[in-house]
Amino acid sequence: MKNFVKLKTNLENTKILRQFISVHQPWENVKGFKAILAPIFFLQNNEVLSDILRKFNGQAVFLRSEKNSMYNWHRDLDRTVVINSLIEGFDSFTMFTDTEIDNMQGTSTGVEELTYNDGECYLLNVQNLHAVYNRHSIRTVLSLSFYKPVSYEQILEYCFSKDFVDHS
Ligand SMILES: [Fe+2]
Repeated sequence: MKNFVKLKTNLENTKILRQFISVHQPWENVKGFKAILAPIFFLQNNEVLSDILRKFNGQAVFLRSEKNSMYNWHRDLDRTVVINSLIEGFDSFTMFTDTEIDNMQGTSTGVEELTYNDGECYLLNVQNLHAVYNRHSIRTVLSLSFYKPVSYEQILEYCFSKDFVDHS
């Protein structure tokens, strides 16, 4: 709950998204990722995602990371909240920790893992420390990004009020 929640919606068109990103060129280099803006029509049939994106003025991007890579512990610089759905690279996962970055020499505690299945959508608090471990294939995520002053608590509260949170 503190780090992420699953939303009661699924991306239905991940196959089309995979096709789109397989032919799209060029990708831009953004903060260690390759990125392209996601055409908004991909979300037109998804009321939950469209609603949240509109309400909190988000931006939809595809972010890609190389195989056998790790994005080390960090808080996102500009983004406060994201809604992520994994498009390719299911051999990867995101981790959160409650250990402060200055105390990272030994054990990290409160580690929570987020592993995505096809079509699942998660609301993530990217102001909490997190890392991404990517194993043997290219990883691409569709990332709805939200910025200050929008906060995780704000979107979470909205999602509860609209019954968008998956409690299963
Ligand atoms: Fe991040």
